[in-house]
Amino acid sequence: MSNLYIGLISGTSMDAVDAALVAFDPPRRAQALAVCSSALPESLITQLRAIGPQTPLACVARADAAVADAFAGATHELLATSGHRREQIRAIGSHGQTVWHAADACPALSVQIGDPNRLAERTGITVVADFRRRDLAAGGQGAPLASSLHAELFRRQGADTIVLNLGGIANITLLPGNTAADITGFDCGPANTLMDAWCRRHRKGNFDAGGAWAAAGILHHALLERLISDAFFQRPAPKSTGPEYFNLDWMASRAADILADVSPGNVQTTLAELTALTAARAIRESLAGPAEVLVCGGGAHNRYLLTRLEANLPEYHVCSTVELGVDPDFIEAIAFAWLARCRLYNMAGNVLTVTGARRSVVLGGIYAGNL
Ligand SMILES: Nc1ncnc2c1ncn2[C@@H]1O[C@H](COP(=O)(O)OP(=O)(O)O)[C@@H](O)[C@H]1O
Ligand SMILES: [Mg+2]
Repeated sequence: MSNLYIGLISGTSMDAVDAALVAFDPPRRAQALAVCSSALPESLITQLRAIGPQTPLACVARADAAVADAFAGATHELLATSGHRREQIRAIGSHGQTVWHAADACPALSVQIGDPNRLAERTGITVVADFRRRDLAAGGQGAPLASSLHAELFRRQGADTIVLNLGGIANITLLPGNTAADITGFDCGPANTLMDAWCRRHRKGNFDAGGAWAAAGILHHALLERLISDAFFQRPAPKSTGPEYFNLDWMASRAADILADVSPGNVQTTLAELTALTAARAIRESLAGPAEVLVCGGGAHNRYLLTRLEANLPEYHVCSTVELGVDPDFIEAIAFAWLARCRLYNMAGNVLTVTGARRSVVLGGIYAGNL
């Protein structure tokens, strides 16, 4: 039976559908044989960003189909790149696109779209999808879910390691060098989501390439203090969040009086510091240094952000996962290939010390491909 899986995800940044073709051949760890990123159509991104609790159901249903089509396109591109045929793939793990995440609501909610029926039909490959809601049903946050893959790839006996994923949201996985100790992890706050939104508002593009705009500004201490006083940052884990909470309205509601007097460039510098400082504090409070901090996600390309992380974590060694030979842009995609495999083997996909669920559960539903 094939041990090849495809992982697909579009994160909250909506920058691309990331796809990875992954081989799980023991004793080797998960190994990406091919990867590709394909952009979502601009019109779809606009629709997706507009989705909220008041969006008509028909709009959500249309976006559900359109995301599935984009994921099918990414799958075909990945297969063409790698030279594999669909028959060689055991399953696709499709995260879909999160359009609403409110794990602390009652009942807890997390909505991912990208119809897995349509994806299975268009690719002919079995799809595993809907990974978060069983964990929510078991009392967990439904997030973050990549921690077990982080442990598989990066845990080392005798050396404390932290994985810091800087997507739209930042999450950390703590991998104690004492392998008898539990791995833990949680969302620690916004990573790129506020900086990206601020760039778009000020027509600086979709994101701050290399952090150049942030690097040119001056930190505004009062703004930083106001933003960092949000209760989310003090809350104990388990916790998860999303752009439905950390967005420009959040910033305005907390600091409208201060913002009126701060230049856009200095706001960007301050938002970068908010990400670096909240991540650094979360790391420091969870696992005392010295330790290695492995950065992944698109934020690993933001040189200014890495500089600020280093400055806030002097007793840690901060580097991109690329230094360990793992492309920082595809770890989440690999994680959903991994979770698809867990599903087919009926293995639990959640880590209780990360999501806070009451019990271990098998994550995801199976949508058969062409039989
Ligand atoms: N060269 C770069 N310089 C600065 N930031 C970057 C760069 N490349 C990507 N990013 C940031 O990473 C984000 C995408 O990261 P990603 O890990 O895909 O997040 P998500 O999981 O939310 O989609 C982009 O929106 C952007 O903010
Ligand atoms: Mg992305």
